[in-house]
Amino acid sequence: MTAIILAPAEKLQRLRELRARKEAQETERLRNVDAFAVLGYEPTCKPRVLAREARDRGEDVEVPEPCGNCPQERFHAATEDSVLYGGAAGGGKTLSLIMEGVRASIRHPGIRVLILRRSYDELAESIYPEFQRISWASALGGRWNKTEKEITFPNRSVIRLRYMESLDDASRRQGGAYQLLLVDELTLMPPGAVDVIALERLRSAHGVPVLGIRAASNPGGASHGEVRAAYIDATDEGQKVITDEHGLTRRFIPARATDNPYLDEAYYRRLDSISDPARRAAMRDGDWGQFSGQMFTQYRFDRHTMDPVTLPPEWSRYNGIDWGFAKPWAVLWGAVDEDGRVWIYREIYEAQVGETEQAARILAAEAGDEHVSVRWADDAMWATRGDAKPISDVYAENGVPLTEAGKGQGSRVAGWQRWHSYLAEGPACPHHRAQGWESCPKIHIFRTCEKLIFELKNLPYAKTGNPEDADTKAHDHAMDAGRYLLINLGTGPEFTILDTRPVPLADELGIPPYQPLGSQMVVRQQEAAEGWSWADGGASEEDDEPKPWMVRTSP
Ligand SMILES: Nc1ncnc2c1ncn2[C@@H]1O[C@H](COP(=O)(O)OP(=O)(O)OP(=O)(O)O)[C@@H](O)[C@H]1O
Ligand SMILES: [Mg+2]
Ligand SMILES: [Zn+2]
Ligand SMILES: [Zn+2]
Repeated sequence: MTAIILAPAEKLQRLRELRARKEAQETERLRNVDAFAVLGYEPTCKPRVLAREARDRGEDVEVPEPCGNCPQERFHAATEDSVLYGGAAGGGKTLSLIMEGVRASIRHPGIRVLILRRSYDELAESIYPEFQRISWASALGGRWNKTEKEITFPNRSVIRLRYMESLDDASRRQGGAYQLLLVDELTLMPPGAVDVIALERLRSAHGVPVLGIRAASNPGGASHGEVRAAYIDATDEGQKVITDEHGLTRRFIPARATDNPYLDEAYYRRLDSISDPARRAAMRDGDWGQFSGQMFTQYRFDRHTMDPVTLPPEWSRYNGIDWGFAKPWAVLWGAVDEDGRVWIYREIYEAQVGETEQAARILAAEAGDEHVSVRWADDAMWATRGDAKPISDVYAENGVPLTEAGKGQGSRVAGWQRWHSYLAEGPACPHHRAQGWESCPKIHIFRTCEKLIFELKNLPYAKTGNPEDADTKAHDHAMDAGRYLLINLGTGPEFTILDTRPVPLADELGIPPYQPLGSQMVVRQQEAAEGWSWADGGASEEDDEPKPWMVRTSP
């Protein structure tokens, strides 16, 4: 036998040829494979699944062929340029996105698929496990590269897993051209970001056609309005396919939790027990109408906020403090009136401030004679940090002693519920009564507390984990500080029921209804604090009967 000795260059050439031949063979083999069948996946056809289950129980039923009309079946059969599969939780949206990506990789050799979620954590929590369950499509030659966060196939197809938290990420991170864009939880994406990617990155390459966008989502999130307009309203809730101004077709496939026979009873019970009716309709029935994702939909600027007034010095004052350094640090000051109503009168909200400086800034913000009774703070501030002292010690040494807010199981959700109860209306406080209001909220927020107001207005519900919790990715620092304060202040106002009409009181005091009082404050009658002058409404000379209200003007 004669050994063939090849020159290195020839050897390399030969190797290349061999590899190319192998690749061509693999590609050819894969092209004829039914990817879904290999992975043991069948798009849910509910009548079929139910019949199969009945047969497995021993019932004498015939299992029908897939009907083609169930949402997952329609999703995988869709040929439009962009398709949103959206609505209720648990319909099977994420799994079908993933399967769509794998099937495309097999059908179209050399395709580049991009799977997007909002954050890395969300990729790791919802996309990775689904891929892990199918071993990263290894039965089809798929190989997971953890560093590159991509799955490669022997036919040169690739699925890249990426996240996109900002519009910046949209243009920066996603390098290269793609032919299929898969977006999970589309409404969580920064508004406009997916359009940027579609416009800049969806291009055909080496003969692979552009398949377009496939997205999945529940209602609610930063892009809720945009997504609803583009996919739900424009298509009459999925009744028709539309063609947009660029000639691209768009389709909406509604999802309901009941579409998915693989969910257990407990899952439906969890959806049924969601307390906010708009949110329940969104998560259980896939209703896009009423729910935009905000937790505090009862918030109204004109009711919950007010121009600052000087608050009586004898009201007790408290802090709620949420610690942060890279992320913002938030401090709220609240005063409690005679009824137990809370008046949030000051905030600090800043990032990149060290703990010594934080304590100094808290003291600097307070007036000389302002006495803060208790400062409830994030329990994390008591944590030991290697050699460094706990943050709470540093605060104390700098003149700001803290009290633990008290975290623990369920405390976040309890805190949001406490917020809900303080946002509710009660009989008007003397101040608002003087302006003609019959009721006012149990919490009043000065308009100077802009960050708190912003977060209160925008705080979204969580989309994963406990459905009654807020989204931990959203800005919640001032709201956390508020939670620490309200939880520790107790359940809120106890009211003296008033029997006088509100408008006559305003008349009596000579205040036009609905006017801010500025440095004046209408309060329940009691001992005058030093430095405050009294006006109309107090016990007057002609009238021995003390009146329940008085207007006081701050020094
Ligand atoms: N065709 C299918 N065959 C088997 N199991 C399925 C099928 N479709 C979905 N499932 C299973 O049902 C569960 C819910 O599916 P999935 O997470 O995809 O739903 P979702 O609509 O994305 O939910 P969410 O709204 O919570 O994000 C998962 O455990 C998934 O594996
Ligand atoms: Mg999902
Ligand atoms: Zn069907
Ligand atoms: Zn009021």
